[in-house]
Amino acid sequence: MFRLWHYLQANAKIVEIGSWIGESSCLLASGLKGEDAKLYAIDNFKGQASDPAARMRYQERMSRLKINNTKEIFDKNIAHFKLLSKVESIAADSLEAVKSFREPLHSIDLLFIDGDHSEDATRKDITTWMPFLKHGGTVVFHDFSSNHGVPQAIWWAIQQSYFSGLVGIYGTMIAFRSSESLEK
Ligand SMILES: C[S@@+](CC[C@H](N)C(=O)[O-])C[C@H]1O[C@@H](n2cnc3c(N)ncnc32)[C@H](O)[C@@H]1O
Repeated sequence: MFRLWHYLQANAKIVEIGSWIGESSCLLASGLKGEDAKLYAIDNFKGQASDPAARMRYQERMSRLKINNTKEIFDKNIAHFKLLSKVESIAADSLEAVKSFREPLHSIDLLFIDGDHSEDATRKDITTWMPFLKHGGTVVFHDFSSNHGVPQAIWWAIQQSYFSGLVGIYGTMIAFRSSESLEK
């Protein structure tokens, strides 16, 4: 995660899909520099997923923590690391969140996709959110080697020319440069 900081210029904007309790949000936002830098953290905060096994895992963790949603812990973590001015959360499914998203197309530096890991949902996150990336911006997928649908969705996006190149592989994350000619 720290290595992704290298791709952040001053006043960079990040969209994160899937924030859970804010671990990746805190790590990514800590790398932001400049007054106008911002991380938009998008999550329904209800631990939902179309994969039943993933949904059960989230629900078990939430019942162990005795919570119905993860927003309160997320907010505490953002405050604890003094990131309130850099992080704006949007409590909605990613496809709903886009309807109230204020930033223009081609304005986001980094897109981190770690929400619903089914192939269909990951494809929809790609088609919905990649047009917000700057030309040559970076898109990062978590769990790209999992047995969910993420690798299939990435393969589909490669065939659709969404990426101009591979930026790197960092553990369970893979990063691509968005295609310069992306006008989807
Ligand atoms: C793997 S967790 C995210 C972990 C987080 N990125 C981290 O590394 O700390 C996946 C999150 O995606 C959220 N999620 C699932 N489907 C979503 C959707 N359609 N839109 C937004 N968030 C979603 C879940 O509620 C869950 O909090």
